[in-house]
Amino acid sequence: MSEAQVEQHEPGHHGPHGRHGPGRRERPPTTRVDWERSDNFHNSHLLRKDEALDAAIRNSEANDLPPISVSPAAGQLLYLLAKSIGAKRVLEIGTLGGYSTIHLARALPDDGKVITLELSEHHAKVATENITKAGVASKVDIIVGPALDSLRKVASEPKFDFAFIDADKTNMLNYFIAAKRLLRKGGAIYVDNVIRGGLVADPAADTSEFSDGVRKFILAMKDDEEVEATTIGTVTGKGYDGFLYAVKK
Ligand code: SAH
Ligand code: DHB
Ligand code: MG
Repeated sequence: MSEAQVEQHEPGHHGPHGRHGPGRRERPPTTRVDWERSDNFHNSHLLRKDEALDAAIRNSEANDLPPISVSPAAGQLLYLLAKSIGAKRVLEIGTLGGYSTIHLARALPDDGKVITLELSEHHAKVATENITKAGVASKVDIIVGPALDSLRKVASEPKFDFAFIDADKTNMLNYFIAAKRLLRKGGAIYVDNVIRGGLVADPAADTSEFSDGVRKFILAMKDDEEVEATTIGTVTGKGYDGFLYAVKK
């Protein structure tokens, strides 16, 4: 008998079935299979069928783009966040096939704009197809080239309401500094992939460019007086990761 069972059956404690009743599983959901099942359960009740988004993923796969778009739930969160702050101008760094771009564009009014920066000509071409098919092309401008160069050319007026940072992680801190400069007071920055299975917090285990880049960014947050921010960890079928959310003071 496991320790947990002994504890559950202790008289005068939580009764014969423990605190949570007979339906409670003994094993906490800590495997990838459990995370995926939970993700699917919640998504199936909260996210609507979306032909344009499905088509964007299919077309990206067919054109050999890597499967690293945000998850459907994270895409919906980006949409909700941008919508809830009444965003009109959004800066996205890292377009890939435009999956997150479509979510963000949908949150904007007809005269709103997502300016999205992408290094790869090929990714930008596929994104253009997907964004056009989704009917949001009038709200999206893709700028092709290294994002650091493009950021110097992006007009700082009018200011952006929302920024989504999701390109190479080496430059994460540089992107964050640039995004802050282009953002209005009260504007928000969402930074993807800041946990990477916990490796960002464990330099002894991983000194890849990816983790080093994120770590450098997180370390710099300690002295950043221009924003208030928090990191939220997420577990999905794709594993353990998370995002940082910052609001400019
Ligand atoms: N935001 C997308 C996923 C982006 S994946 C989504 O959720 O759907 C990261 C993207 O950043 C890739 O397309 C990659 O080509 C791009 N990228 C990598 N380095 C870059 C750089 N220096 N400048 C601009 N884009 C870059
Ligand atoms: C990876 C995942 C991402 O979300 C991203 O933006 C870049 C890379 C990855 O798993 O390699
Ligand atoms: Mg990402």
